[in-house]
Amino acid sequence: MFPRETIPAGPVTLRPPAESDADAIARACADPETQRFIPVLPRPYTREHAVGYITGIAEEGWRAGGAEFVMADPDSGEAQGVIGLKPADRFGNVEVGYWVAPWVRGKGVATAALRAVTGWAFDHGAPRVHLVAEMENVGSQKVALGAGFRHEGLSRGAGPIPGGGRADMALFGRLPGDSGEPIRPFLPFLPPGGLTDGVVTLTMLTGDDAPAYQLVASLPDVVKYRVPPEAPPFEETLYRCRGAAYRWLVGIQAEMAIRDAATGAYAGDIQLSHLTPPMREAMVGYSLHSDFRGRGLVTRAVQLLAEWAFTKTSMRRLISGTNPDNLASQAVLERAGFTRGQTQKEYLPGPGGTWTDNVEWLRLR
Ligand SMILES: CC(C)(COP(=O)(O)OP(=O)(O)OC[C@H]1O[C@@H](n2cnc3c(N)ncnc32)[C@H](O)[C@@H]1OP(=O)(O)O)[C@@H](O)C(=O)NCCC(=O)NCCS
Repeated sequence: MFPRETIPAGPVTLRPPAESDADAIARACADPETQRFIPVLPRPYTREHAVGYITGIAEEGWRAGGAEFVMADPDSGEAQGVIGLKPADRFGNVEVGYWVAPWVRGKGVATAALRAVTGWAFDHGAPRVHLVAEMENVGSQKVALGAGFRHEGLSRGAGPIPGGGRADMALFGRLPGDSGEPIRPFLPFLPPGGLTDGVVTLTMLTGDDAPAYQLVASLPDVVKYRVPPEAPPFEETLYRCRGAAYRWLVGIQAEMAIRDAATGAYAGDIQLSHLTPPMREAMVGYSLHSDFRGRGLVTRAVQLLAEWAFTKTSMRRLISGTNPDNLASQAVLERAGFTRGQTQKEYLPGPGGTWTDNVEWLRLR
């Protein structure tokens, strides 16, 4: 049981909801982004739903052993968001959920409220606090990391998508013994507009890139060197592109579109994968549409990426691998400052159940 208290939380004060909050809650919960990422909200969301939340759902939450707070402006008392702790599950774990009104986003309100309510839950005996955020809800994931929650994995098909279907949910948790310090992503996001040398621009892959990515990934001479050597189904490509920001934020992989800087046209993709933080190593891979070949674009892309990795992350070893027949890719790596290493026998899955050799490449910081 949590006590009904008021909790100071930096830019906001957390207090139990009151009927006077109904208008602000109704206005905020009608916001499309709130509706998208909190699929249990009724739609359209009306003032009656807000009153039902305040007098029914929130009251029931408190009675059942949870806690429901409005994030209130300390001066005006106006509701700026909601944060709630569900009643503990059978192992004592407490799940937290929140939203912030669109008109106060980006000011650190959610992060401050999450940090405060989590500390308060620990003070009242919670052994663990966790939250789930849809894979594409990078804003909420940043809030979790900012409040010292560790990324713990991705639960497949764990949440409903408004309108039908299921979404993968990222899980973040904090234990009382964790420092609670903000967790800085291992891979910082690219600057606005991406990385550019004036000829090539690298931008984080997004769902909008999926058709162009699919086109490149299906070219016969790209398929030949893919692992495994098959064109991906489009659903896989769409999922990859939509989840790129999540994987980037939690330090799994950095996936980028290679664009013609002059026109912004999608030319191909480049990524840092197989991150091994203790060795501060990552693997570079890329593919380019045939229309853009022969202009040195991939070499520039690899150079830009290496420059970024060596100056903006703690990476000190970039590795790559090529099929021994792939002379074009070997020329790219050589021009981008990589040195050729050993040939690994029967390393890569080839066509028809065969195995092909792999040439190792390395560029040190
Ligand atoms: C997610 C949400 C709660 C964030 O609230 P907020 O008060 O704006 O969050 P903060 O200001 O504390 O932001 C923390 C960080 O996330 C970033 N961020 C916030 N929204 C973002 C978004 N949509 N995309 C990318 N980054 C975002 C902020 O810039 C900030 O990053 P910084 O520390 O690098 O500057 C709010 O956007 C919201 O209510 N969304 C809809 C409902 C929802 O998703 N709830 C959570 C369900 S799990």
